[in-house]
Amino acid sequence: MSRSHFSADELTAFWRTVMDPDGIGPSRKVAMELAAFTGEPIEQVERKMQSAWSDFNDLWHTAHVDTADEKSVANFYRDQFVEAYELAHWHAGETFGSFPLNYAKAALHAKRLGLRRALDFGAGIGSGSIALSVAGCEVYSADVANELLRFVGHRLEGRGIAAHLLDLGIGQLPPKGYFDLITCFDVLEHVPDQLAKIRELTTYLRPGGYLFVNFYDDPIGEDHAMHVSGAGDWLRLTRKTSLLPLWDSFDGFLQVLQYKPYGRLINFAASIKDRAQGFSANRGK
Ligand SMILES: C[S@@+](CC[C@H](N)C(=O)[O-])C[C@H]1O[C@@H](n2cnc3c(N)ncnc32)[C@H](O)[C@@H]1O
Repeated sequence: MSRSHFSADELTAFWRTVMDPDGIGPSRKVAMELAAFTGEPIEQVERKMQSAWSDFNDLWHTAHVDTADEKSVANFYRDQFVEAYELAHWHAGETFGSFPLNYAKAALHAKRLGLRRALDFGAGIGSGSIALSVAGCEVYSADVANELLRFVGHRLEGRGIAAHLLDLGIGQLPPKGYFDLITCFDVLEHVPDQLAKIRELTTYLRPGGYLFVNFYDDPIGEDHAMHVSGAGDWLRLTRKTSLLPLWDSFDGFLQVLQYKPYGRLINFAASIKDRAQGFSANRGK
């Protein structure tokens, strides 16, 4: 893969077309989509978007989740819908005063490289699935949260996009060896065993396929109660898989990894070199 950074303006403009195709404002547009889905008045949706971050945290603190058990964590996400308002607020650029742009980066990479079959793993409210579709991909949207997934279907239908929804909570798994790319953004820190999860994701990629992911080395803390694991030194983590880091396409918020059938062997040899040279993910940035 050639060096493929996109300008902030390009990424922002692309994300705007995803979130606000009619030019009514990204926050208003997603609030309207939520209101049409839930039947709530739009003002109520907008109020919920404002308070969603603390509402969602409160829900977590009352849920008594066993953070070492993937099923227990997944059960927490399964039936709630509060997260939809939180993600809507964030995707509309309201939470931090700027848009989250990882999906825009992945979608523009996909377009540039002619990648077609995409899996949006941990799809949330489907903004990323829309982005990948706008970039020309056939998108499968997978999540454990079934109400969020129904909302993804509603949004995609509203945009005239064919939905392929996978409800992971009832065992609907992506096809093996099928995908040109997988996006897994802001999901791994909600999964107790990150290594097992990225190994699982690798099985859904065709040889040469890409995993677009954002690892957090240590995301656990008071402000992030729902983060149950960290990747640590993610280079060490990925050296235990068949995924090879594509250093050229990294930035501070995104890692791009490519699946090679003999990647595990290549990584094993590279891990010896890494250790000899004192090389770590942080130095590789
Ligand atoms: C912070 S949201 C990110 C959503 C979306 N990727 C985005 O960036 O907007 C985390 C998502 O991961 C999902 N999730 C949590 N545990 C999961 C698991 N074990 N497998 C798949 N998805 C999971 C949640 O339901 C939620 O939709």
